[in-house]
Amino acid sequence: MTIERTFSIIKPDAVAKNHIGAIYNRFETAGLKIIASKMVHLSKEQAEGFYAEHSARPFFGALVSFMTSGPVMVQVLEGENAVLANREIMGATNPAEAARGTLRADYAASIDENAVHGSDAVESAAREIAYFFSADEVCPRTR
Ligand code: PPS
Repeated sequence: MTIERTFSIIKPDAVAKNHIGAIYNRFETAGLKIIASKMVHLSKEQAEGFYAEHSARPFFGALVSFMTSGPVMVQVLEGENAVLANREIMGATNPAEAARGTLRADYAASIDENAVHGSDAVESAAREIAYFFSADEVCPRTR
């Protein structure tokens, strides 16, 4: 059994539609524990820094504009194979291709506004967690 941590964002569209509780319920029902959480309204600089690896892509400006359009919830999820488990809970990047019952199938309107972000690997998860949380804001759970 591999206990991992992953980083998750509930994006401005899903926060605006009051889906925070429903999405947290999906994480917890799947056995992922929320071990850090806060609401943030990203600055342009914060969003550009977070998505820096995509800066050359044609949608970069639209992505930064969307991610700064309202508050987001950022959280650290911990559990067995948490990175892959969260990617499965989220579904495909494009909600039109997302499997039934996934977060993006249920809560995302389009690829531009797709409700949630989740780390794609343990290494990126560590980097993304450190981007938003100091060590003392993360509370490992013993039970
Ligand atoms: S993935 O899943 O990260 O590999 O997807 P990728 O295609 O590489 O997309 C990287 C992030 O950009 C978002 N994205 C878009 N935003 C706006 N418009 C368009 N067309 C678009 N296509 C992709 C996508 O949701 C990824 O953001 P995150 O926050 O990682 O989900």
